Amino acid sequence: MPNRTIGMWLYSNSGGEKIAKKIIKKLQERNIDTINDINLRHAIAKNGHILHNNVKLDKLDLFFSYNAGEQTQYQVYLYQALNRVIPMINSYDSFALTEDKFHTSFVLRNNGVQTADYKLCHRDDGEQLRKIMKKWDKMVYKPTDGWGGVGLTKIESEASLDMLMPFLNQMDLRYFYVEKFIKYDNTDFRVDIVDGKFISCYGRKAGGNDWRTNVTAGGSVFLREANDEIVDIAVKACKATGVDIGGVDIIYDLEKEEYVVLEVNGIPAFATPDQEKMGLDFNDKKIDLIVDLIDRKTKK
Ligand SMILES: Nc1ncnc2c1ncn2[C@@H]1O[C@H](COP(=O)(O)OP(=O)(O)O)[C@@H](O)[C@H]1O
Ligand SMILES: [Mg+2]
Repeated sequence: MPNRTIGMWLYSNSGGEKIAKKIIKKLQERNIDTINDINLRHAIAKNGHILHNNVKLDKLDLFFSYNAGEQTQYQVYLYQALNRVIPMINSYDSFALTEDKFHTSFVLRNNGVQTADYKLCHRDDGEQLRKIMKKWDKMVYKPTDGWGGVGLTKIESEASLDMLMPFLNQMDLRYFYVEKFIKYDNTDFRVDIVDGKFISCYGRKAGGNDWRTNVTAGGSVFLREANDEIVDIAVKACKATGVDIGGVDIIYDLEKEEYVVLEVNGIPAFATPDQEKMGLDFNDKKIDLIVDLIDRKTKK
């Protein structure tokens, strides 16, 4: 088989550099070369090509993008263009889908995956929020493109909605997206899937009085086993959103007594060196399945 070459952009903090080295070595054993650290921020497009340090990215056999969910519009724009001519992991479509919470919930619901009840309405139709508040009792206002729990606002009464509305109206939003606030025990399951296969599960617990489990919001990670139902849901969520690699956030609704998917993360982090010491030992399995996946997708 002719030699294959892929491009990669993988985060280098929190142990990422070591992960990248392992991936490169394992790919090499299969005669796949890797050009690492291809940040599209430094690429330019010229005629039929996208160039990065004189490498024609459009000639690569695949591009593996695993860095910063928060990318600039420029990076995302080139991601989209590049994926029109070569395979990417994750595909641009699934990456863009999972970056948007409303679109993700919409697609999940249409594929039989339970999510939090939600409502989206035009910014001039704020009356819809008052209506749904009567029904739900408590809700969460969510930026559809956020991360790390940033910007999530719990609305506990009609009075607090009235207080919030002037602020929302000032923010020049196109729409409002709200979810029913789910009564849960302030812990979640983060389930990692690669290529439709289960990699790992761990839990996160909200810190102090916070209701958000995000580590960036003071949450902490703990060892937690999945069960078959949780794994099934996560696999289904990844299939529905089309991600080759996904980290699915799941909580248990105490009132409805069922699991719900909150979001699918397209760039779920590998276990950090500290987390590995804690006993999260899934990195090698994840690396192996990613290498298998790249190998398969680049077979000529
Ligand atoms: N509908 C909801 N009901 C209760 N808690 C929620 C709800 N949505 C989110 N949360 C809490 O907020 C955290 C962040 O929400 P999430 O949708 O995952 O956004 P982010 O991208 O910011 O992580 C979740 O991990 C969960 O703890
Ligand atoms: Mg989340």
